[in-house]
Amino acid sequence: MANLLFLLPILALSLSPVFVAYASTLQDFCVTNPIGQGNSVCKDPKLVEANDFFFSGLHIAGNTTNPVGSKVTPVFASQLPGLNTLGISLARVDIAPWGVNPPHTHPRATEIFTILEGTVEVGFITSNPENRHFWKVLHKGDVFVFPVGLIHYQRNIGYDNVVAIAALSSQNPGAITIGNAVFGATPNIASEVLVKAFQLDKNTINYLHSKF
Ligand SMILES: *[C@@H]1O[C@H](CO)[C@@H](O)[C@H](O)[C@H]1NC(C)=O
Repeated sequence: MANLLFLLPILALSLSPVFVAYASTLQDFCVTNPIGQGNSVCKDPKLVEANDFFFSGLHIAGNTTNPVGSKVTPVFASQLPGLNTLGISLARVDIAPWGVNPPHTHPRATEIFTILEGTVEVGFITSNPENRHFWKVLHKGDVFVFPVGLIHYQRNIGYDNVVAIAALSSQNPGAITIGNAVFGATPNIASEVLVKAFQLDKNTINYLHSKF
């Protein structure tokens, strides 16, 4: 009996609603219900149409004229209502020459990244205490995976634009961009916290607050 006790937490997890929600869906689809169509979570299947499973526009390059030189065009459940409950999504990533997609993490998704055009350095960092940095230079046709939750980045290291498709294992992967989250939170994290955490003086922290 005692050696079966270790199974209890596993049993509890498998029965919890959080985990059930990730199990296979209970219907063919559950298109996000637009506001004003009853109070069901899913759109009435009789009203669902092909356009609920459709998105157009990923042939259009994102505008990379911004301080980091990159643009992500998401196709998540909010852009494509038919993705709701299906646990998958994607995004187009444009990076100008020498631009970066800054270090960020997707709390709910693994990302598999395919290069359509250009040359890009990619990397991710493992958890504490190792904080190992895995990185690689990718060319057209190359594929790289960023494991769920880990901080990762991309940098265009060529003279041509980078175009890539990021596929994600969540309909709503979320994104936490490290710089924006740490230095651009609303309201700010107290500079005393950031001074010690990053071993910087208060003026530098104030400057970083102003930048994000
Ligand atoms: C791209 O963004 C920049 C900066 O916001 C803006 O000035 C420019 O007009 C945009 N270009 C296009 C083609 O939308």
